[in-house]
Amino acid sequence: MASDANGHLEPIDPAFFAGKRVTVTGGRGFLGRFVCRQLTASGAQVSALGRRDYDLIEQADVRRLFAEQRPQVLIHLAAAVGGIGANVANPGRFLYENGLMGLMLLDEARRAGVEKFVLISSTCSYPKEAPMPLREESIWEGKPVGATGPYGMAKRLLHEALATYREQYGLQGVVLVPANLYGPEDHFDPALSHVIPGIIRRYVEAVEQGAERVQNWGSGTPTREFLHVRDAARAIVLATARHRDPAPVNLGTGVETPIRELAEMVARATGFTGEIAWDPTQPDGQPRRVLDVSKARAFGFEARVPLAEGLAETVAWYKAHRPD
Ligand SMILES: NC(=O)c1ccc[n+]([C@@H]2O[C@H](COP(=O)([O-])OP(=O)(O)OC[C@H]3O[C@@H](n4cnc5c(N)ncnc54)[C@H](OP(=O)(O)O)[C@@H]3O)[C@@H](O)[C@H]2O)c1
Repeated sequence: MASDANGHLEPIDPAFFAGKRVTVTGGRGFLGRFVCRQLTASGAQVSALGRRDYDLIEQADVRRLFAEQRPQVLIHLAAAVGGIGANVANPGRFLYENGLMGLMLLDEARRAGVEKFVLISSTCSYPKEAPMPLREESIWEGKPVGATGPYGMAKRLLHEALATYREQYGLQGVVLVPANLYGPEDHFDPALSHVIPGIIRRYVEAVEQGAERVQNWGSGTPTREFLHVRDAARAIVLATARHRDPAPVNLGTGVETPIRELAEMVARATGFTGEIAWDPTQPDGQPRRVLDVSKARAFGFEARVPLAEGLAETVAWYKAHRPD
């Protein structure tokens, strides 16, 4: 086991990581903190970077990063990201910044002779009409559309860039495509939050206010897939050490959960006992969303944290850490 129920981390492939300089862009973000902890537990010499260290849309900063950090392995997590509202408001900026950061890092990485470039992509790179479960081969069978389309397109460009750099320059790299992440330390600010933090916030507040009913958006029937952030971090560290193919690999549980069931689990975890109501006049979005997760087994990854358990942990963290 790489981590027990309390989140105690066990090393992954210490022979690979011992003393290795691993630079993690976005290393102080939600996923980044968990990745850095797993790398440190595995013996790596980790640099967890944020925008205040290097602004990665500035080429001078990207060059300074390589000169100062001298990474042997680069894990690229930094991204201009946000909830649906932020994507709707910033389609151009998200496309530009994510494309630019990734391309500049890749080019400097191959000049610096980095041993491995690990790119974290997103399921937003899949086309809307791809058959379920989403298989990596479907990524190019249509356009990524909707609010997250431009963000997804920037990620897709980087998939191709990595494969092309492998071909021309021999740069080794992997592309990982995680499902929706959740867990403790997530963003709960309404401007940034994803599905699970948004639902948790609503039910915690309903309990506090003694509300008898929580009204949810849509019919509750669409399904989504959720991966605990600790599982995602373990997958990324396993792939960093063991995987060699630049073709994208999904990271998920392979379990699809109807939003209605998710709301019921969150209600239980928060102690809400009132009515869970739905408003089917509101749009539902895609009816199903689930990944084929078989490819990641090649490097020994299988998700471990059951959703109900991860939700209870996340609710407890939120209650203990939210601002007054
Ligand atoms: N969360 C999910 O559900 C999910 C699902 C699939 C894929 N992903 C991918 O996982 C990665 C990490 O996501 P996350 O959820 O951990 O997001 P996050 O908490 O917002 O972390 C992203 C980090 O990127 C950094 N960043 C943004 N612009 C930068 C710039 N110009 N220069 C330097 N750093 C910059 C930010 O650093 P500062 O804090 O210093 O500004 C931030 O900490 C992203 O690539 C995202 O696409 C996330």
